Amino acid sequence: YFFSDALDLYRHRSHEKRYYRGYKVLRLYPSNSEQLRLLHDLAESENSELDFWLPPSSVSRPVDVMIPPERFHQIKHLLTANHIQQEILVEDVDKAIENEKTPAPYSELRSTSSVFFTKYQRINDIHNYLENLAAENSPIASILSIGKSYEERDLKAIKISKETSNDKPIIWIDAGIHAREWISIATAVYIAKELIQNYNSDPDIKSLVDTFEWYILPSVNPDGYEYSHDYNRMWRKTRSVGTSVWGCIGVDANRNFGFKWNQGGASSNPCSDLYAGPKAFSEPETKAISEFILARKNQVKLYIATHSYSQLWLTPWGWTSKLPDDYDDQYNLANIAVKALNSVHGTKYQIGSSTNLLYIAAGGADDWAYGVAGIKYAYTPELRDTGRYGFVLPASQIIPSGEETFAAVKAMALALKNEL
Ligand code: ARG
Ligand code: ZN
Repeated sequence: YFFSDALDLYRHRSHEKRYYRGYKVLRLYPSNSEQLRLLHDLAESENSELDFWLPPSSVSRPVDVMIPPERFHQIKHLLTANHIQQEILVEDVDKAIENEKTPAPYSELRSTSSVFFTKYQRINDIHNYLENLAAENSPIASILSIGKSYEERDLKAIKISKETSNDKPIIWIDAGIHAREWISIATAVYIAKELIQNYNSDPDIKSLVDTFEWYILPSVNPDGYEYSHDYNRMWRKTRSVGTSVWGCIGVDANRNFGFKWNQGGASSNPCSDLYAGPKAFSEPETKAISEFILARKNQVKLYIATHSYSQLWLTPWGWTSKLPDDYDDQYNLANIAVKALNSVHGTKYQIGSSTNLLYIAAGGADDWAYGVAGIKYAYTPELRDTGRYGFVLPASQIIPSGEETFAAVKAMALALKNEL
């Protein structure tokens, strides 16, 4: 582990790209508490070099783990000896990464305005796209920067609203807080495009843009996103440089929010992918969001922080298995979203609290939005897929994901509008 970490540090310094040749992703099905404990131990042991794409949670939940080729036989043996059911999800991660780049075929596009969504775009191209979208639709769209990332990239958001007054109800959508969850970023941009381009043709969309102020921040973690393109496709954290003696970089920004910070499902080890940071809101990215939201907290009616993957529409809490008082309302609105989403391409989502459906993880944006900012409807949708490709979802799924997720968001907003 120390050796591999030193290697990684060397790679960063020399800007050498990390490859995943021969890496496999296994899906495991722990069927009793002993098997679950074994997987927990594996996940926690720091010399394992395993990347738990889906960490162990409870007995009935699958666990996805990426294994380097040199560890494969040993791990496989350990699992088999402990009778843990397993299947291969991704045969070769490097090949999957190559496949991911294949653009969606132009021949299947319904309009030329979709070309942007045939591949995963770089941050500058996303920013330019948003700038153009806003410039061409200036009465209803504008660009703002809510702050800067650690490496001083703009945290660029698009505001979509028919300017009538300054205190309209707000809908907040963000994505990409985890660098490698590329589909969340593309989907957020798609949602912005749909709201703007259909304003004049779809009366429902017109009413939603007239009623709400929409803020969409497609890349909460632009440093990590760029790093995941240039150096390591599996990067998750921010890129802040702390004081770790091992030279480990970055914080899990979704463990960095100031509510029940570091109270479970997070790590104090700067080398962990779940590192909560030296303190709550240590990261400029999470700090910027919190300040932006707090300044408008009474206006914000809906807070959506998109991630991938698993096809879940998660509700609070993530820090405890207890359900909040508003759970029934939160569930019912999620149900409206998931039904609308399903009606587009038949994609199935499950609804439930983060802790109950996934695992305990304190310091998340949704818990903070609900617990501190008092926003009743705070969600973390985990977008496509359920593990066939995991984080490396082929680019041909960007448009379908955009279409169905937009339907979900639209249905939620319409339901909320009727509650105002
Ligand atoms: N996969 C997400 C994460 O690990 C889930 C977050 C759910 N929300 C929460 N507060 N735990 O960050
Ligand atoms: Zn995530």
